[in-house]
Amino acid sequence: MTDRLVTEVPKDIGVLSESIKYPKSGLVAPNRTLKAAMTERLCSYDADEPTKRGIPGPELIRVYEEWGKGGFGLILSGNTFGDYINLEAKGNPIMVGDEPERLENFKKVAAAAKAEGALYVVQLSHGGRQVPYDVNPNPVSSSDVRLDKMSGNDVSANFGQPTQLTVDEIKKTVDNFAKAAAYAHKTGADGVQLHSAHGYLLAQFLASSTNKRNDQYGGSLENRSRIHFEILEAIQKAVPDPKFSIGIKINSAEFQQGGFQPEECRDVCARLEKAGIDWIELSGGTYEELGFSHKRDSTKKREAFFLEFADIIRSGVKDVPIYVTGGFRTANAMVDAVKSGSCQGVGLARPVCEEYDLPKKLLSGKVASARKTLVPDSNFMMGNQVCCAQIAQVGRGEKPTDTLDDSQLQPLLKQLGLA
Ligand SMILES: Cc1cc2nc3c(=O)[nH]c(=O)nc-3n(C[C@H](O)[C@H](O)[C@H](O)COP(=O)(O)O)c2cc1C
Repeated sequence: MTDRLVTEVPKDIGVLSESIKYPKSGLVAPNRTLKAAMTERLCSYDADEPTKRGIPGPELIRVYEEWGKGGFGLILSGNTFGDYINLEAKGNPIMVGDEPERLENFKKVAAAAKAEGALYVVQLSHGGRQVPYDVNPNPVSSSDVRLDKMSGNDVSANFGQPTQLTVDEIKKTVDNFAKAAAYAHKTGADGVQLHSAHGYLLAQFLASSTNKRNDQYGGSLENRSRIHFEILEAIQKAVPDPKFSIGIKINSAEFQQGGFQPEECRDVCARLEKAGIDWIELSGGTYEELGFSHKRDSTKKREAFFLEFADIIRSGVKDVPIYVTGGFRTANAMVDAVKSGSCQGVGLARPVCEEYDLPKKLLSGKVASARKTLVPDSNFMMGNQVCCAQIAQVGRGEKPTDTLDDSQLQPLLKQLGLA
Protein backbone atom coordinates (compact mmCIF):
# COMPACT_ATOMS: atom_id res chain seq x y z
CA MET A 1 0.00 0.00 0.00
CA THR A 2 1.46 3.32 -1.02
CA ASP A 3 1.30 6.41 1.16
CA ARG A 4 1.11 8.58 -1.98
CA LEU A 5 -1.98 10.00 -3.67
CA VAL A 6 -0.60 8.84 -7.03
CA THR A 7 2.56 7.01 -8.00
CA GLU A 8 3.02 7.71 -11.68
CA VAL A 9 5.67 10.37 -12.31
CA PRO A 10 4.85 12.47 -15.41
CA LYS A 11 7.29 12.10 -18.33
CA ASP A 12 7.88 15.82 -18.44
CA ILE A 13 8.55 16.27 -14.72
CA GLY A 14 11.66 18.24 -15.80
CA VAL A 15 9.34 21.21 -16.41
CA LEU A 16 9.24 21.81 -12.65
CA SER A 17 13.04 21.99 -12.45
CA GLU A 18 13.18 24.92 -14.85
CA SER A 19 14.31 28.17 -13.29
CA ILE A 20 12.23 31.36 -13.19
CA LYS A 21 13.86 34.72 -13.83
CA TYR A 22 12.11 37.73 -12.33
CA PRO A 23 12.00 40.60 -14.81
CA LYS A 24 12.57 43.54 -12.50
CA SER A 25 15.20 42.33 -10.02
CA GLY A 26 16.85 39.85 -12.38
CA LEU A 27 16.84 37.29 -9.55
CA VAL A 28 16.50 33.66 -10.57
CA ALA A 29 14.46 31.12 -8.62
CA PRO A 30 16.22 27.80 -9.26
CA ASN A 31 12.99 25.93 -9.94
CA ARG A 32 9.24 26.45 -10.23
CA THR A 33 8.20 25.48 -6.70
CA LEU A 34 7.24 27.92 -3.98
CA LYS A 35 6.85 27.28 -0.27
CA ALA A 36 3.77 29.36 0.42
CA ALA A 37 3.53 31.69 3.39
CA MET A 38 2.36 29.94 6.53
CA THR A 39 2.04 31.67 9.87
CA GLU A 40 4.45 30.04 12.32
CA ARG A 41 3.46 31.84 15.55
CA LEU A 42 6.87 31.00 17.02
CA CYS A 43 8.10 34.47 17.99
CA SER A 44 7.87 36.19 21.35
CA TYR A 45 4.59 37.71 22.52
CA ASP A 46 4.11 39.97 25.52
CA ALA A 47 0.52 40.99 26.24
CA ASP A 48 1.51 44.15 28.14
CA GLU A 49 4.69 45.30 26.45
CA PRO A 50 4.24 45.44 22.65
CA THR A 51 7.90 46.20 21.92
CA LYS A 52 8.80 42.77 23.29
CA ARG A 53 6.71 41.03 20.62
CA GLY A 54 7.76 39.39 17.39
CA ILE A 55 11.34 38.41 18.24
CA PRO A 56 12.36 35.11 16.65
CA GLY A 57 14.25 32.41 18.52
CA PRO A 58 15.79 29.02 17.75
CA GLU A 59 12.40 27.46 16.93
CA LEU A 60 11.81 29.69 13.91
CA ILE A 61 15.37 29.22 12.71
CA ARG A 62 15.02 25.44 12.96
CA VAL A 63 11.85 25.44 10.87
CA TYR A 64 13.55 27.38 8.07
CA GLU A 65 16.59 25.11 8.24
CA GLU A 66 14.24 22.28 7.30
CA TRP A 67 12.46 24.16 4.49
CA GLY A 68 15.86 25.42 3.32
CA LYS A 69 16.89 21.81 2.67
CA GLY A 70 13.62 21.03 0.92
CA GLY A 71 14.48 21.82 -2.68
CA PHE A 72 12.17 24.86 -3.14
CA GLY A 73 12.83 27.53 -5.75
CA LEU A 74 11.29 30.28 -3.62
CA ILE A 75 10.60 30.21 0.12
CA LEU A 76 8.11 32.66 1.62
CA SER A 77 8.12 33.48 5.31
CA GLY A 78 4.87 33.40 7.24
CA ASN A 79 3.03 36.71 7.54
CA THR A 80 5.36 39.25 9.13
CA PHE A 81 4.44 42.67 10.47
CA GLY A 82 5.70 46.23 10.37
CA ASP A 83 4.14 47.19 13.72
CA TYR A 84 3.42 45.57 17.08
CA ILE A 85 -0.37 45.70 17.05
CA ASN A 86 -1.92 44.77 13.71
CA LEU A 87 -1.06 41.09 13.90
CA GLU A 88 -2.73 37.99 12.52
CA ALA A 89 -1.95 36.11 15.76
CA LYS A 90 0.17 36.13 18.89
CA GLY A 91 3.70 35.04 18.07
CA ASN A 92 3.90 36.60 14.59
CA PRO A 93 7.33 37.89 13.52
CA ILE A 94 7.69 41.68 13.66
CA MET A 95 10.35 43.60 11.73
CA VAL A 96 10.62 46.76 13.78
CA GLY A 97 13.11 48.05 16.32
CA ASP A 98 16.83 47.87 16.76
CA GLU A 99 17.45 45.11 19.32
CA PRO A 100 20.49 43.06 18.22
CA GLU A 101 18.75 39.78 19.14
CA ARG A 102 15.83 40.46 16.81
CA LEU A 103 18.07 41.36 13.87
CA GLU A 104 20.58 38.56 14.41
CA ASN A 105 17.88 35.91 14.63
CA PHE A 106 16.04 37.19 11.55
CA LYS A 107 19.40 37.01 9.74
CA LYS A 108 19.74 33.39 10.82
CA VAL A 109 16.25 32.60 9.52
CA ALA A 110 17.10 34.11 6.11
CA ALA A 111 20.45 32.31 5.96
CA ALA A 112 18.80 28.99 6.85
CA ALA A 113 16.13 29.38 4.17
CA LYS A 114 18.75 30.25 1.53
CA ALA A 115 21.33 27.65 2.57
CA GLU A 116 20.79 25.37 -0.44
CA GLY A 117 20.04 27.98 -3.08
CA ALA A 118 16.37 28.90 -2.69
CA LEU A 119 15.33 32.52 -2.87
CA TYR A 120 13.85 33.75 0.42
CA VAL A 121 11.19 36.43 0.61
CA VAL A 122 9.47 37.93 3.67
CA GLN A 123 5.69 38.23 3.47
CA LEU A 124 4.59 41.60 4.86
CA SER A 125 1.08 41.97 6.17
CA HIS A 126 -1.32 44.03 8.27
CA GLY A 127 -4.30 42.31 9.83
CA GLY A 128 -6.78 45.17 9.52
CA ARG A 129 -10.18 44.00 10.78
CA GLN A 130 -8.87 40.41 11.02
CA VAL A 131 -6.67 41.15 14.06
CA PRO A 132 -7.89 38.84 16.86
CA TYR A 133 -9.83 40.56 19.65
CA ASP A 134 -7.36 39.49 22.33
CA VAL A 135 -4.50 41.10 20.39
CA ASN A 136 -6.36 44.32 19.65
CA PRO A 137 -10.05 44.86 20.48
CA ASN A 138 -10.05 48.12 18.48
CA PRO A 139 -8.72 47.28 15.03
CA VAL A 140 -8.52 49.53 11.98
CA SER A 141 -9.61 48.84 8.43
CA SER A 142 -10.33 50.48 5.10
CA SER A 143 -13.84 51.14 6.51
CA ASP A 144 -15.82 50.33 9.63
CA VAL A 145 -17.20 46.99 8.40
CA ARG A 146 -16.88 44.41 11.16
CA LEU A 147 -15.95 40.78 10.56
CA ASP A 148 -18.84 39.02 12.24
CA LYS A 149 -19.28 35.86 10.17
CA MET A 150 -16.88 33.11 9.12
CA SER A 151 -18.43 30.61 6.71
CA GLY A 152 -21.82 31.61 8.15
CA ASN A 153 -20.80 31.22 11.84
CA ASP A 154 -20.99 34.14 14.25
CA VAL A 155 -17.44 35.29 15.13
CA SER A 156 -18.28 38.77 16.40
CA ALA A 157 -16.68 37.91 19.76
CA ASN A 158 -13.38 37.10 18.03
CA PHE A 159 -12.84 40.36 16.15
CA GLY A 160 -13.45 43.93 17.31
CA GLN A 161 -15.36 46.70 15.60
CA PRO A 162 -12.88 48.39 13.25
CA THR A 163 -12.56 52.11 12.71
CA GLN A 164 -11.82 53.55 9.30
CA LEU A 165 -8.18 54.56 8.82
CA THR A 166 -7.71 58.29 8.34
CA VAL A 167 -5.59 59.45 5.41
CA ASP A 168 -2.76 60.27 7.83
CA GLU A 169 -3.00 56.78 9.30
CA ILE A 170 -2.86 55.30 5.80
CA LYS A 171 0.37 57.23 5.18
CA LYS A 172 1.77 55.82 8.45
CA THR A 173 0.73 52.31 7.40
CA VAL A 174 2.49 52.73 4.04
CA ASP A 175 5.58 53.90 5.90
CA ASN A 176 5.46 50.86 8.21
CA PHE A 177 5.45 48.51 5.20
CA ALA A 178 8.43 50.36 3.72
CA LYS A 179 10.39 50.28 6.99
CA ALA A 180 9.69 46.57 7.44
CA ALA A 181 10.90 45.97 3.87
CA ALA A 182 14.12 47.83 4.64
CA TYR A 183 14.48 45.65 7.74
CA ALA A 184 13.92 42.49 5.67
CA HIS A 185 16.63 43.67 3.27
CA LYS A 186 19.03 44.09 6.20
CA THR A 187 18.41 40.50 7.27
CA GLY A 188 19.54 39.15 3.89
CA ALA A 189 16.11 38.35 2.45
CA ASP A 190 15.88 38.52 -1.35
CA GLY A 191 12.70 40.54 -1.23
CA VAL A 192 9.28 41.04 0.26
CA GLN A 193 5.80 39.98 -0.71
CA LEU A 194 2.80 42.23 -0.02
CA HIS A 195 0.02 40.13 1.47
CA SER A 196 -3.08 41.32 -0.33
CA ALA A 197 -5.06 38.08 -0.11
CA HIS A 198 -7.36 36.27 2.34
CA GLY A 199 -9.11 39.37 3.64
CA TYR A 200 -6.18 41.10 5.38
CA LEU A 201 -5.89 44.90 5.28
CA LEU A 202 -4.72 45.28 1.67
CA ALA A 203 -7.49 42.92 0.51
CA GLN A 204 -9.95 44.92 2.66
CA PHE A 205 -9.07 47.99 0.61
CA LEU A 206 -9.56 46.13 -2.70
CA ALA A 207 -13.01 44.66 -2.00
CA SER A 208 -16.11 46.84 -2.23
CA SER A 209 -17.66 44.75 0.54
CA THR A 210 -15.10 46.09 3.04
CA ASN A 211 -14.15 49.40 1.42
CA LYS A 212 -16.99 51.92 1.69
CA ARG A 213 -14.80 55.03 1.56
CA ASN A 214 -15.65 58.03 -0.54
CA ASP A 215 -12.19 59.60 -0.58
CA GLN A 216 -9.20 58.87 -2.83
CA TYR A 217 -8.90 55.35 -1.31
CA GLY A 218 -12.45 54.19 -2.05
CA GLY A 219 -14.92 53.84 -4.90
CA SER A 220 -13.17 53.17 -8.23
CA LEU A 221 -10.75 50.28 -8.61
CA GLU A 222 -7.96 52.81 -9.04
CA ASN A 223 -8.82 54.30 -5.64
CA ARG A 224 -9.31 50.96 -3.89
CA SER A 225 -5.88 49.81 -5.06
CA ARG A 226 -4.12 53.13 -4.38
CA ILE A 227 -2.50 51.98 -1.15
CA HIS A 228 -0.81 49.10 -3.01
CA PHE A 229 0.95 51.48 -5.37
CA GLU A 230 1.91 53.80 -2.53
CA ILE A 231 3.45 50.89 -0.63
CA LEU A 232 5.28 49.65 -3.72
CA GLU A 233 6.73 53.09 -4.37
CA ALA A 234 7.65 53.60 -0.71
CA ILE A 235 9.50 50.26 -0.64
CA GLN A 236 11.32 51.08 -3.87
CA LYS A 237 12.50 54.30 -2.19
CA ALA A 238 13.33 52.70 1.16
CA VAL A 239 15.31 49.87 -0.46
CA PRO A 240 17.24 51.30 -3.42
CA ASP A 241 18.85 47.90 -4.15
CA PRO A 242 17.70 46.99 -7.72
CA LYS A 243 18.07 43.30 -6.89
CA PHE A 244 15.53 43.47 -4.07
CA SER A 245 12.43 41.72 -5.35
CA ILE A 246 8.91 42.93 -4.54
CA GLY A 247 6.11 40.46 -5.17
CA ILE A 248 2.47 40.28 -4.19
CA LYS A 249 0.01 37.63 -3.06
CA ILE A 250 -3.40 38.67 -4.26
CA ASN A 251 -6.85 37.16 -4.42
CA SER A 252 -7.82 36.00 -7.88
CA ALA A 253 -11.39 35.53 -6.69
CA GLU A 254 -13.53 36.08 -3.60
CA PHE A 255 -16.66 34.04 -3.41
CA GLN A 256 -18.98 36.58 -1.84
CA GLN A 257 -21.07 39.59 -2.72
CA GLY A 258 -18.94 42.68 -3.20
CA GLY A 259 -15.82 40.52 -3.23
CA PHE A 260 -12.81 41.29 -5.40
CA GLN A 261 -13.34 39.94 -8.92
CA PRO A 262 -10.90 38.15 -11.27
CA GLU A 263 -11.24 40.90 -13.88
CA GLU A 264 -10.44 43.53 -11.24
CA CYS A 265 -7.44 41.47 -10.17
CA ARG A 266 -6.29 41.32 -13.82
CA ASP A 267 -6.45 45.12 -14.09
CA VAL A 268 -4.64 45.73 -10.81
CA CYS A 269 -1.93 43.21 -11.73
CA ALA A 270 -1.43 44.83 -15.14
CA ARG A 271 -0.85 48.18 -13.42
CA LEU A 272 1.36 46.63 -10.75
CA GLU A 273 3.53 45.15 -13.49
CA LYS A 274 4.05 48.61 -14.96
CA ALA A 275 4.86 49.95 -11.48
CA GLY A 276 7.60 47.35 -10.97
CA ILE A 277 6.13 44.33 -9.22
CA ASP A 278 8.48 41.38 -9.85
CA TRP A 279 6.15 38.39 -9.56
CA ILE A 280 2.58 37.58 -8.54
CA GLU A 281 1.16 34.77 -6.42
CA LEU A 282 -2.56 34.11 -6.87
CA SER A 283 -4.79 32.83 -4.12
CA GLY A 284 -8.42 33.44 -3.17
CA GLY A 285 -11.05 33.76 -0.46
CA THR A 286 -11.25 35.64 2.84
CA TYR A 287 -11.95 34.72 6.48
CA GLU A 288 -15.60 35.42 5.72
CA GLU A 289 -15.69 32.94 2.86
CA LEU A 290 -12.65 30.68 2.68
CA GLY A 291 -11.39 29.85 -0.80
CA PHE A 292 -9.31 26.77 -0.03
CA SER A 293 -11.62 24.23 -1.57
CA HIS A 294 -13.27 23.79 -4.94
CA LYS A 295 -16.05 26.35 -5.17
CA ARG A 296 -17.00 25.44 -8.69
CA ASP A 297 -17.10 22.08 -10.46
CA SER A 298 -15.06 23.57 -13.29
CA THR A 299 -11.97 24.03 -11.07
CA LYS A 300 -11.84 20.42 -9.84
CA LYS A 301 -10.36 18.78 -12.87
CA ARG A 302 -7.15 20.83 -12.64
CA GLU A 303 -6.62 20.12 -8.91
CA ALA A 304 -5.52 23.66 -7.99
CA PHE A 305 -8.37 25.93 -6.88
CA PHE A 306 -7.54 29.11 -8.78
CA LEU A 307 -6.16 28.12 -12.22
CA GLU A 308 -9.35 29.08 -13.98
CA PHE A 309 -9.01 32.61 -12.57
CA ALA A 310 -5.26 32.66 -13.28
CA ASP A 311 -6.09 32.39 -16.99
CA ILE A 312 -8.12 35.60 -16.76
CA ILE A 313 -5.38 37.43 -14.87
CA ARG A 314 -2.62 36.11 -17.12
CA SER A 315 -4.33 37.84 -20.05
CA GLY A 316 -3.55 41.25 -18.53
CA VAL A 317 0.04 40.59 -17.53
CA LYS A 318 3.00 40.53 -19.94
CA ASP A 319 6.26 39.30 -18.42
CA VAL A 320 5.72 38.99 -14.70
CA PRO A 321 5.77 35.34 -13.58
CA ILE A 322 2.61 34.10 -11.93
CA TYR A 323 2.54 31.49 -9.18
CA VAL A 324 -0.70 29.79 -8.23
CA THR A 325 -1.10 28.41 -4.71
CA GLY A 326 -3.89 26.24 -3.33
CA GLY A 327 -4.80 22.61 -3.94
CA PHE A 328 -1.71 21.34 -5.80
CA ARG A 329 -0.91 17.82 -4.67
CA THR A 330 0.34 15.85 -7.71
CA ALA A 331 3.30 16.43 -10.01
CA ASN A 332 0.99 15.81 -12.93
CA ALA A 333 -1.32 18.71 -12.09
CA MET A 334 1.68 21.00 -11.44
CA VAL A 335 3.31 20.12 -14.75
CA ASP A 336 0.00 20.54 -16.62
CA ALA A 337 -0.63 23.94 -15.02
CA VAL A 338 2.78 25.20 -16.14
CA LYS A 339 2.57 23.64 -19.60
CA SER A 340 -0.86 25.13 -20.19
CA GLY A 341 0.62 28.58 -19.54
CA SER A 342 -1.80 29.32 -16.69
CA CYS A 343 1.11 29.87 -14.32
CA GLN A 344 4.88 29.76 -14.26
CA GLY A 345 5.23 28.50 -10.70
CA VAL A 346 3.34 26.33 -8.21
CA GLY A 347 2.83 27.04 -4.52
CA LEU A 348 2.57 24.42 -1.79
CA ALA A 349 1.42 24.93 1.79
CA ARG A 350 -0.28 22.18 3.83
CA PRO A 351 1.64 19.22 2.37
CA VAL A 352 5.01 20.77 3.20
CA CYS A 353 4.27 21.06 6.90
CA GLU A 354 4.56 17.31 7.09
CA GLU A 355 7.05 16.74 4.31
CA TYR A 356 9.54 19.58 4.27
CA ASP A 357 11.50 18.19 1.31
CA LEU A 358 8.55 17.41 -0.96
CA PRO A 359 9.88 19.55 -3.86
CA LYS A 360 13.22 17.73 -3.79
CA LYS A 361 11.44 14.38 -4.04
CA LEU A 362 9.01 15.55 -6.73
CA LEU A 363 11.66 17.14 -8.93
CA SER A 364 13.92 14.10 -8.75
CA GLY A 365 11.02 11.84 -9.71
CA LYS A 366 11.29 9.94 -6.44
CA VAL A 367 7.61 10.57 -5.71
CA ALA A 368 4.71 11.65 -7.89
CA SER A 369 2.61 13.49 -5.34
CA ALA A 370 2.18 14.64 -1.78
CA ARG A 371 1.41 12.00 0.81
CA LYS A 372 -2.12 10.96 1.58
CA THR A 373 -3.49 12.39 4.80
CA LEU A 374 -6.41 11.57 7.08
CA VAL A 375 -7.06 15.30 7.48
CA PRO A 376 -9.64 16.06 4.80
CA ASP A 377 -8.30 18.65 2.32
CA SER A 378 -11.79 20.14 2.30
CA ASN A 379 -11.55 20.95 6.05
CA PHE A 380 -9.15 23.87 5.88
CA MET A 381 -9.67 24.96 9.47
CA MET A 382 -8.64 21.54 10.75
CA GLY A 383 -5.74 21.41 8.28
CA ASN A 384 -4.62 24.85 9.36
CA GLN A 385 -4.49 23.96 13.06
CA VAL A 386 -2.77 20.66 12.39
CA CYS A 387 -0.19 22.42 10.21
CA CYS A 388 0.47 25.05 12.90
CA ALA A 389 1.02 22.24 15.42
CA GLN A 390 3.36 20.47 12.98
CA ILE A 391 5.37 23.66 12.46
CA ALA A 392 5.69 24.04 16.25
CA GLN A 393 6.81 20.41 16.53
CA VAL A 394 9.56 20.93 13.95
CA GLY A 395 10.51 24.15 15.77
CA ARG A 396 11.08 22.04 18.91
CA GLY A 397 13.23 19.62 16.94
CA GLU A 398 10.55 16.90 16.82
CA LYS A 399 9.19 15.02 13.83
CA PRO A 400 5.86 16.40 12.60
CA THR A 401 2.80 14.27 13.32
CA ASP A 402 2.19 11.71 10.57
CA THR A 403 -1.40 12.53 9.62
CA LEU A 404 -1.82 9.26 7.77
CA ASP A 405 -1.32 7.41 11.03
CA ASP A 406 -4.50 7.60 13.08
CA SER A 407 -2.66 6.65 16.27
CA GLN A 408 -0.63 9.87 15.88
CA LEU A 409 -3.36 12.06 14.44
CA GLN A 410 -6.09 11.39 17.03
CA PRO A 411 -4.07 12.51 20.08
CA LEU A 412 -3.09 15.68 18.21
CA LEU A 413 -6.72 16.41 17.27
CA LYS A 414 -7.71 15.87 20.90
CA GLN A 415 -4.99 18.22 22.08
CA LEU A 416 -6.26 20.83 19.61
CA GLY A 417 -9.84 20.34 20.78
CA LEU A 418 -10.84 18.99 17.38
CA ALA A 419 -11.80 15.44 18.38
C1 LIG B 1 -0.92 26.76 8.82
C2 LIG B 1 -1.21 27.71 7.71
C3 LIG B 1 -0.85 29.03 7.83
C4 LIG B 1 -1.05 29.94 6.78
N1 LIG B 1 -0.59 31.21 6.91
C5 LIG B 1 -0.59 32.03 5.84
C6 LIG B 1 0.11 33.28 5.86
O1 LIG B 1 0.74 33.64 6.85
N2 LIG B 1 0.05 34.03 4.75
C7 LIG B 1 -0.60 33.64 3.62
O2 LIG B 1 -0.60 34.36 2.62
N3 LIG B 1 -1.25 32.47 3.57
C8 LIG B 1 -1.22 31.65 4.63
N4 LIG B 1 -1.79 30.41 4.53
C9 LIG B 1 -2.41 29.99 3.26
C10 LIG B 1 -1.40 29.23 2.40
O3 LIG B 1 -0.30 30.02 2.04
C11 LIG B 1 -2.07 28.70 1.12
O4 LIG B 1 -2.49 29.80 0.36
C12 LIG B 1 -3.25 27.76 1.40
O5 LIG B 1 -2.96 26.88 2.47
C13 LIG B 1 -3.61 26.92 0.18
O6 LIG B 1 -2.54 26.12 -0.22
P1 LIG B 1 -2.49 24.52 0.06
O7 LIG B 1 -3.74 23.95 -0.58
O8 LIG B 1 -1.23 24.04 -0.62
O9 LIG B 1 -2.49 24.33 1.52
C14 LIG B 1 -1.66 29.50 5.58
C15 LIG B 1 -2.04 28.17 5.47
C16 LIG B 1 -1.82 27.28 6.49
C17 LIG B 1 -2.21 25.84 6.32
